[in-house]
Amino acid sequence: METSEAEKEMREWCVALPKVELHAHLNGSVRNSTLLELAKELGDKGVIVFEDVKDVIMKNDRSLPECFRLFDLFHILTTDHDTVTRIAKEVVGDFAAENVVYLEIRTTPKNNEAKGMTKRSYMNAVVKGLKSVEDVDVVLFDSNLRNDETPMSDLSGDTKRKKIYVRLLLSIDRRETTSAALDTVNLAMEMKDQGVIGIDLSGNPVVGEWETYLPALEHAKDLGIPTTIHCGEMKLELSEQQVPNRKEIQAMLDFCPQRLGHVCCLDDEEWKKLKSSMIPVEICLTSNVMTGGAPSLELHHFADLYNAKHPLSICTDDSGLFSTSLSNEYYLVASTFGLSKTELFRLAQGAVEFVFADDEVKKSLRAVFERAAAETLAS
Ligand code: IMP
Ligand code: ZN
Repeated sequence: METSEAEKEMREWCVALPKVELHAHLNGSVRNSTLLELAKELGDKGVIVFEDVKDVIMKNDRSLPECFRLFDLFHILTTDHDTVTRIAKEVVGDFAAENVVYLEIRTTPKNNEAKGMTKRSYMNAVVKGLKSVEDVDVVLFDSNLRNDETPMSDLSGDTKRKKIYVRLLLSIDRRETTSAALDTVNLAMEMKDQGVIGIDLSGNPVVGEWETYLPALEHAKDLGIPTTIHCGEMKLELSEQQVPNRKEIQAMLDFCPQRLGHVCCLDDEEWKKLKSSMIPVEICLTSNVMTGGAPSLELHHFADLYNAKHPLSICTDDSGLFSTSLSNEYYLVASTFGLSKTELFRLAQGAVEFVFADDEVKKSLRAVFERAAAETLAS
């Protein structure tokens, strides 16, 4: 079916809209073309069978357990220092190209003895990638920002050089031990002056126990490091650990992180608690539908939270894995829930208030949106 003119115009508008991305996993945001190239190299070396891997990478439909098997494969492809640097650079370039003006990338620092890799050297490779982006200006550290800076995104289609703020969150993988999780929090503290501003808890939701990560999350809290937690991501019927998961959702809400990811499978009492907490939620439509956390786009809990005026931000989760982009996620919000351009703009603008970066960055982002408002909302 041919794309209608109205859809084309709306999609272009969503690309031009300045956007804030708060939930993007580095290894989930890698381009398919890069994964295939890396797989080919490893196939030539006899480390993997390229043809098998190619089919897995190009497959579109993925359940949650399949996603985690895929991540293990991605990690085989990407876990050496030069490749980590390359993917970090490409991912930032891809987000900037679609007018993301502020990006928080999260990634799990990895030890890999065979590659001489420590969590620290992994993160140094990520930072090196962010610094080596050439086509756009990456603001990684808090520079002396001025409010009269040139706009970072130009909705009139001007070819001005783009500018993107990038910050890093360190992920604790649910497979990790308490001690490994604590190492990650300490590393975040050590790398505070290199753009690391938060901690994330992620990984396969049916693996691990809340009590294992709690000491590390408490430690982050004590150190004043903001946290975001993947919460209630999986349908309980899919999991055999029904009771612990219910308890875990309660415990996560009680922990009061600065933000929560997903919140797909809450019961009535948990919804009430979430809504009264006003903890901002990172909404990942495509990811939730593809992995079964939400039954369909139409029945996604975005509508309920949006109508309740709960703080929200639209995010991609894994743009590479799910073949999406932040512009596409905004388009889906408009086409599924009937939001107007003004409402979409306000949604994008609202996310500025939930960034983990400091007030100077927030101020600068607010100015970007104010400047953009006149043009965007007039069209
Ligand atoms: P990385 O941290 O850069 O290696 O990105 C991939 C990792 O992010 C995966 O191995 C998971 O631990 C985590 N991740 C990515 N997507 C999801 C998700 O949808 N739910 C939970 N964890 C996720
Ligand atoms: Zn995620």
